[in-house]
Amino acid sequence: MKINFTLNGKSAEIDADPMAMALDVIRDLDLTGTKEGCGVGVCGACTIMVDGEPVSSCICVVGTLQDREVWTVEGISEKMPDLIEKFIDNEGMQCGICTPGQIMAAAAISSVDITSEEDIKKYMAGNLCRCTGYQTILNAVEDYLAIN
Ligand code: FES
Ligand code: FES
Repeated sequence: MKINFTLNGKSAEIDADPMAMALDVIRDLDLTGTKEGCGVGVCGACTIMVDGEPVSSCICVVGTLQDREVWTVEGISEKMPDLIEKFIDNEGMQCGICTPGQIMAAAAISSVDITSEEDIKKYMAGNLCRCTGYQTILNAVEDYLAIN
């Protein structure tokens, strides 16, 4: 089935099984920044942004992306370089597997009313870090939002 959507700010058309997982389809497009962690919608490593909302691409069938606006970490890196810089400045990564998902969640957080560290923690609770580098990730997001 032909699926048309906007991908990282550009029109895209792919020919795919509509029931294929968006994670696999996106990675097959050489956008391998999106990682698979748990594969069952629990860890957030595979987070992409769909119409401004963070979505776990490992449990999102690609047919649902028809006519939607989709961003991956590659596009967000170009669109929001300040956010990436804050992750680097704060060393908000260790092994890096969760990092793209953390960045995508943080990118989506910008459009939500966040006023405290607790708000950030609650919003990003779905993004797990098996290296347990939560404090530096939190510092990076706080720094980006400048609420600390
Ligand atoms: S890989 Fe998708 S939520 Fe864990
Ligand atoms: S940096 Fe390793 S899982 Fe988060």
